[in-house]
Amino acid sequence: MKIQLIRQSVDAIPSRWIILGIFEDESGPPRDLAGTSVGETVDRLRASKDISGSSGEVTVLHDPVVSVIVVGLGKKDRLDGGTAFYAMVAATKRIAGKPREDVALVLPDVPDRAAIAEAMIEGAIVGTRGPGLKLAEPNRHAFRSLSIVVTSDGNPIEIDSIRRAEVIGASVNLARDLVNTPPGEKSPARLADQIRAVAEEAGLSVEIWDADRIRAERFGGLLGVAAGSDEPPRFVILRHGKGGNAPTLALVGKGVTFDSGGLSLKPSASMEDMKSDMTGAAVVVSTLQAVARLGLPVNVAGYLALTENMTGGHAMKLGDVLTMRNGKTVEVLNTDAEGRLILADALSYAAEHSPARIIDLATLTGACMVALGPQIAGLFGNNDPLCEELQKVTQRTGERAWRMPLDDDFKEMLKSQVADLKNIGGKWGGAITAAKFLEQFVGSTPWAHLDIAGPSWSDSDQPRRDAGGTGCFVRTLVRFIAQTAENGG
Ligand code: BES
Ligand code: MN
Ligand code: ZN
Repeated sequence: MKIQLIRQSVDAIPSRWIILGIFEDESGPPRDLAGTSVGETVDRLRASKDISGSSGEVTVLHDPVVSVIVVGLGKKDRLDGGTAFYAMVAATKRIAGKPREDVALVLPDVPDRAAIAEAMIEGAIVGTRGPGLKLAEPNRHAFRSLSIVVTSDGNPIEIDSIRRAEVIGASVNLARDLVNTPPGEKSPARLADQIRAVAEEAGLSVEIWDADRIRAERFGGLLGVAAGSDEPPRFVILRHGKGGNAPTLALVGKGVTFDSGGLSLKPSASMEDMKSDMTGAAVVVSTLQAVARLGLPVNVAGYLALTENMTGGHAMKLGDVLTMRNGKTVEVLNTDAEGRLILADALSYAAEHSPARIIDLATLTGACMVALGPQIAGLFGNNDPLCEELQKVTQRTGERAWRMPLDDDFKEMLKSQVADLKNIGGKWGGAITAAKFLEQFVGSTPWAHLDIAGPSWSDSDQPRRDAGGTGCFVRTLVRFIAQTAENGG
C-alpha cells in the first residue's frame, strides 16, 4: 500500500473512497466539508441522530461518484492515539474486503495532528490485513494507495510521520502474521530462519543457537521444555546498536510455537489457540524490526527462546528437576507452566550482559486473564519508574496494561522440598506467582514483565479488532524506545 501526502480541498479529492473522521461533540459537517453534497448528507444524518460520531462508529455513504466512510472519533479534546488507531482499523476493515484503488483519508484538524495521523495510518495498515493467511481466495486487501489529505491550513504533518507510521504498522502486521501462521509451519527452527530473514533485511545483527549450543550454554529450562518435542529448540539474539555509549534495553520474548501443555496436557479446547504462545517472541522481533528500519539512535537487544511444548517420549516428567542458566534448580510440578522455565534462562542470560533495563513479554498465564480480562496485559516489575514510563506510553497508544503486585509473600508459594524453586504456586494469584518466579532470574536489573496472555489474541472478529493475533504492544514498545532515545538512552 503506497502512502502519500496530499494537500487538497475535499471536493477536489480524486479518490472514489474517502475516509472522514467526525467528532461526537461537534455539530454540523466538519469544516472541510461545508458546502459539499457529502457535507449536507453528514449534516442531515447527524440531525436525525443516525450518525453520532461516537468512537469507532462507521457509516458508509454512497454518492454517484464517491463513497465516504464516516468514522466516529469520539469527543474532540479526548482524541488520542488509541481512539484514532481503532477508529481507522474499523473504517478500513469495512471496505478492505475487495481490492480498492486509491483511498483518501481526510485528517481531522486537531492540535497534535502528526501523532493522530500516525495512529490513523497504523490503523489503516492493520485494518487492511486479516488473519486469513491460508485462504484460497484472499478476503482482505491492502489498498493500492492511501492518500493522506491535509485540507485546512492548521497543523501540517511531515512526511517523516507518514514513514514512521508505515514502518510501525508493517511491524504490527509482521507480529500478527507470525502468530497467525499455523504451528506446523513455524517449528522453532523454521521460525528462527524467518526471524533471521526479517532481521537481515532490517539491518539487525542476528545470532541463532541450535540445541548443541543451547546445551553448551546450560539453558536447562529451555532444554527441559524442548525435550518433549521432536523439533529442536532455538535461541535467537538480535541486536540494534545505534546508540553509541547509551545504555542497552533488553527485550525478552516467550516463543512457544505450540503449547500442548506437555504431560500436564491441556484439554483440546484450551489448545486451539496455542499457536499464539510465541507472541512475546513475535512482538520482540517486530519491535526490533521497526527500531532498525527507523534507524533509532538506541541500543536494543532482543532475546527469543523458541521451543514447542509437547508430550514426546523424552518429555520432562512431574518431579523432574532442571538446572537453569543461573544455577538455580527448579522442580517441575506442572509441565504446562513452561513459559517461566524458558524465560528463566533467557532473562538470566540477558541480565548477564548488564543491560540498563529488561522488558519481557510473555503469554504466561490464564490467571492473568481471570484477573484482568482478555484485553488488558498484566504489568509487573521490580522498578517503579520503568513500569510507570511504560504505562504512560500505553496511554498514548491505547494498548492497555495494568500494574500488578509482586509482594514477597508470593515467593513463599514457590518453595520446593527438593529444589530451589518449584514451577507452580498455589491455587490463587497465578499471574503473580509466575511473575515472582521470573523475578528470581533478573538479579538487580530494572525489569518489567508484561503478561500478554489476554491481549495477544482475539477469539472473535470484532469491528475494531480482527480475530487471531493482535501484535499487541509493538506500537507501544517502539514509541517507548523512541522516547528513551530522546531522553538520552
Ligand atoms: N501459554 C499458557 C498461558 C495462556 C493461557 C496463554 C491461555 C494464553 C491463553 C501457559 O503456558 C500456561 O499454560 N500457563 C498455565 C500455568 C499453570 C499451569 C500454573 C495456566 O495459565 O494455566
Ligand atoms: Mn503452558
Ligand atoms: Zn505457554
